[in-house]
Amino acid sequence: MKRESKVRDMKLAGEGHRRIEWVKEHMPVLNEVRSIFEKEQPFKGLTVAICLHLEAKTAYLAKVMQAGGADVVITGSNPLSTQDPVAAALVDDGITVYDWHGCTAEEYHQQLQWVLDCQPDLLIDDGGDMVHMLHTERQELLEKIRGGAEETTTGIHRLVAMDKSGELRFPMVAVNDAYCKYLFDNRYGTGQSTWDGIMRTTNLVVAGTSVVVVGYGWCGKGIAMRAKGLGANVIVTEIDPIKANEAIMDGFRVMPMIEAAKIGDYFVTVTGNISVIRKEHFAVMKDKAIMCNAGHFDVEIDKNDLGEMADSVKEVRHNIDEYLLPDGRKLYLLAGGRLVNLASGDGHPAEIMDMTFALQAMAIKNVNENYANLQAKVYPVPAEIDQKVANLRLKSLAVNIDHLTPEQEKYLNSWKV
Ligand code: ADE
Repeated sequence: MKRESKVRDMKLAGEGHRRIEWVKEHMPVLNEVRSIFEKEQPFKGLTVAICLHLEAKTAYLAKVMQAGGADVVITGSNPLSTQDPVAAALVDDGITVYDWHGCTAEEYHQQLQWVLDCQPDLLIDDGGDMVHMLHTERQELLEKIRGGAEETTTGIHRLVAMDKSGELRFPMVAVNDAYCKYLFDNRYGTGQSTWDGIMRTTNLVVAGTSVVVVGYGWCGKGIAMRAKGLGANVIVTEIDPIKANEAIMDGFRVMPMIEAAKIGDYFVTVTGNISVIRKEHFAVMKDKAIMCNAGHFDVEIDKNDLGEMADSVKEVRHNIDEYLLPDGRKLYLLAGGRLVNLASGDGHPAEIMDMTFALQAMAIKNVNENYANLQAKVYPVPAEIDQKVANLRLKSLAVNIDHLTPEQEKYLNSWKV
């Protein structure tokens, strides 16, 4: 459907097309999905609303949904991750876009409203803001929603809370919890893109420094693993005793934040929780310590505390704010505490998002085929879809694997030796 999009500047579209073409060449699994969608047209006549970090890989997902017959409406899931050239290219391709880089909180809210004004049937959300708005401010649209898929851990936490309290009004698939998502995207994707973001922003060395990774979930594991590979001494902080034990066995030092705060040169938060680095930690940090966040929201490093403690704040390099404390120490915050890999980088590598977005596309197709029999609950990605993505990825790498012999299959399925 032809609507008037709202983006920064349509003259940027050429560069946006180049970025999308580049990632397309490195997303073979999604290309397979595209071929299926082109033939089957599973979304013909339906409006799909997308709220995801609007960069090239996401744009290609939007185009794949469009190739499947969908009328696609898209906005970004974070004010700093949107790439204006990519947004313009999508408009050029007939997709409705309401998004521009650096939008204010009010504009971000307005963009989501505009997306919902298009009355979607299906949703792809990242972080849960779109689903939240539907259940609070736009309840009149709930009836039409067939279901959706959620990208990230933070969004799933919110959905599970809604599900538990009986307030979720349509089925949502927890894409993050599929094997082909968290084992690769959260671990290798966040691991690589976070360090890419930090290094391109600071242009400083990592080898020989002390890196504090705050949170040892799948993302934290990836960030710690890559920091070790870069030659850093890695410290992990955790609140979960099991994850703390994992970190120890992976070869990292584990200690409370109040001790790690005195040692770290770099701090990377990836907990999904608020104020994991706060006043008492800033008070003991070393001069020139660098802090950044790779979790979904910019709440993990307490910017209010930091602002209150500082005599002055200035941007000393693009995306680096220097907080000057009264005792002369300088503390640096990257990308305003927003996810450094997207706000100060291009997000995860294309090959990683290939699997994630193939899962998203197939999960949404599955919801659309089965919504009449689904309840308003959080569902896992069906195991067949996870397996299919894994197999397609292997095929794209020309890697073959073994298969069970009938005898082995029988052995595994029996309890008598
Ligand atoms: N690109 C698009 N969405 C992304 C995400 N959730 N994480 C990293 N890179 C992305």
